[in-house]
Amino acid sequence: MKKRFLTALVAVVFLLASGGARAGIVKSDAAAQWAAQAGAGKSRFSFIVFGDSRGTSPARPMPAVLPVILQEIGWIHPDFVINTGDMIVGYTDTVAQAREELLAVLRAYTRYAGDVDMLVVPGNHEIRPGDIVEAYRPLFGRKLYFDFTYGNAHFVMVNTNFPKKMLQKGQKYGFYNINDGAHQDPMVEWTRKVLEKPAEHTFVVQHVPLFSALSPDFGKHPKSFATRENRDEELALVLDRGIDAVFAGHEHVVYTRKEKDTLFFTLGGGGAPLYGPVSGGYAVNKGEGPRYATVGSDPAVEHGGSAKGYHYNLHLPAGAFSFFSYMLVTVDGDKVSYELLVPHHVDVEYAGGNDGVTPVATATVANRMPYRRTYRGIWFLMPSSQAGYDVSATQIDWERIEHPVDDALQPRILEVTPVNDYQSRVRVAVTVPGAFSVDVHVKAR
Ligand SMILES: [Fe+2]
Repeated sequence: MKKRFLTALVAVVFLLASGGARAGIVKSDAAAQWAAQAGAGKSRFSFIVFGDSRGTSPARPMPAVLPVILQEIGWIHPDFVINTGDMIVGYTDTVAQAREELLAVLRAYTRYAGDVDMLVVPGNHEIRPGDIVEAYRPLFGRKLYFDFTYGNAHFVMVNTNFPKKMLQKGQKYGFYNINDGAHQDPMVEWTRKVLEKPAEHTFVVQHVPLFSALSPDFGKHPKSFATRENRDEELALVLDRGIDAVFAGHEHVVYTRKEKDTLFFTLGGGGAPLYGPVSGGYAVNKGEGPRYATVGSDPAVEHGGSAKGYHYNLHLPAGAFSFFSYMLVTVDGDKVSYELLVPHHVDVEYAGGNDGVTPVATATVANRMPYRRTYRGIWFLMPSSQAGYDVSATQIDWERIEHPVDDALQPRILEVTPVNDYQSRVRVAVTVPGAFSVDVHVKAR
């Protein structure tokens, strides 16, 4: 009993010392242990997947949409985030420059969504050029491929981009049997083994997609896997295994394919330059054209796209879209739902308080998606209160009358984190119907 009390005390002291439930980057080497603890016993959880948030070109800043996405991740507050890589440009970087750019990304992440854990698979821009993998590994872990079991789901993080010096002739992006020096088995053998692990759900995450939207027929300069044979080697491992979804990025489009029972997502909308017009070619979208349309033959009709200057043949199949976005995945027992979200779909405006002094604070949370959504990361800076806090919510109906929300929409206080002797941060979860706004009020007792 005494020991249990001491353990609890140590945990509280640790939480206070670390400023509450702060989180951050889960390094690949620690992912399995992290997931075993954070996901223990869970069959209901959510995670966000996004990637490709590099700048336009070397020495240019990160896109302005990235902090917007990160802020919304903070508000949604899923159980964790998976980044599919290409956070920086990397090419032409020295190791020191790559490190500084990666740190800038981490600073933005920590500022806006630092209380949500994030796991990363590397993209070609992080580890392929020069020696910059030396900048990547101390920050994100030595293992370049790794797996973890979170609750009832197994995540297999495959590396499709080894440092150039590890590659053989003809290898560019793909599924190679290379050992990263942190495993017993090279990656193909490792993947074959770990895919045998039983789990209610299996998700594969990698940077380069198995189904390229932009060069589906491979050709001379394929955008994704270097050869069809190499792609098929991984595809054969993935299909018929009951895998729920394969998440990737690399191509700066949003594209979904379903083969057998597995969904293949390309989610390259994290802010890097978009690769095509917002939608596919006109004829393709109308169902009149070929399966894939080469964009750029008639920019006026094709909504302004031009393939000129690109180093690959720009093709856009029906259903490939170029817009900034990220995906929220929700696991609920044996069900999984996938929701593509766009930046600015949610706003949080503080209408009063939130200054650490005023005893009542109000935030207006606007949900501009058509679906009901729970935001679990609405924070309030409040004066300290030994007696605790109350939270309530009101709405304005279409008759312009303000009244309390329905019982089902009642907000909840999820955590109270002391900032100092006088102030605390209070985290609230609030459910907002689609296309609606709710006012959340936190009051110190
Ligand atoms: Fe990439």
